[in-house]
Amino acid sequence: MARPADHEILLTSRPLDEYCGLFGLTRAALAAVDGPVLDCPGGAAGLTAEARALGCHVIAADPAYAAPLPAVTARALAGRDAMAGAMLAAPQLYPDPRHLRPERYLRSWDRARRLFAADTAAHPEDYVAAALPRLPFADRTFALTLSSYLLLAYPGLFGPRRQLAGLLELVRVTADGGEARIYPLHDGAGRRCPHLDELRRALGRHRVASEIRAFPRPGDGRTRRILVLTHAGAGNRRPPGSPSR
Ligand SMILES: C[S@@+](CC[C@H](N)C(=O)[O-])C[C@H]1O[C@@H](n2cnc3c(N)ncnc32)[C@H](O)[C@@H]1O
Repeated sequence: MARPADHEILLTSRPLDEYCGLFGLTRAALAAVDGPVLDCPGGAAGLTAEARALGCHVIAADPAYAAPLPAVTARALAGRDAMAGAMLAAPQLYPDPRHLRPERYLRSWDRARRLFAADTAAHPEDYVAAALPRLPFADRTFALTLSSYLLLAYPGLFGPRRQLAGLLELVRVTADGGEARIYPLHDGAGRRCPHLDELRRALGRHRVASEIRAFPRPGDGRTRRILVLTHAGAGNRRPPGSPSR
């Protein structure tokens, strides 16, 4: 499959509460994380800004931040419009409208995008231009690492070898006893990553422990699954509020 150029990847602007729903977190759990959190890719999410208000320090990393802020927010607005079209075209892939009406969902993105813009202007040091599979952070820096809608979602950009390199990089920057959480396990058309078991075996050979963790998706209670990676043999200091295995 042809590899899409970076600009073909949607730049999305999810709020903190949506992130919590993606990763099985709560606001209280985020506030209790003992150390910095990495969000890679950060996109134009409200996470860093909203977590700051909870006393949680989130560093966002994304190659998009190499561009001037107005260009990033313009891409995020285009991403929001693309999402509006996608929700209309394939509603089965998105939150059940009985629980979250599309216009309300899109308004939450608009708010997150505005928070992102204000926070980036106020705290540029927390938005780092960087691209997987190589991040400019020291080993074991982050107590919790979050990565949504990239490595397994865009198989045209990240084939199996680059996926493995990206996953290993996310674990490298995660502290002993911390976790790297990855969502989704499927691509944009809802197809589950066909070589996930093979990827997990390869991670194991690099001394990375992996787990598929399931929890109820907020709103409709359907099962959501994330990939959770840790340094094999590291002490188990799971972020507070983690759902049980
Ligand atoms: C669909 S957005 C996901 C953003 C956010 N994590 C979320 O869940 O809304 C995909 C992001 O990946 C970024 N991206 C593209 N290539 C990347 C790479 N090699 N490493 C890290 N981020 C990348 C894009 O700039 C874009 O912001």
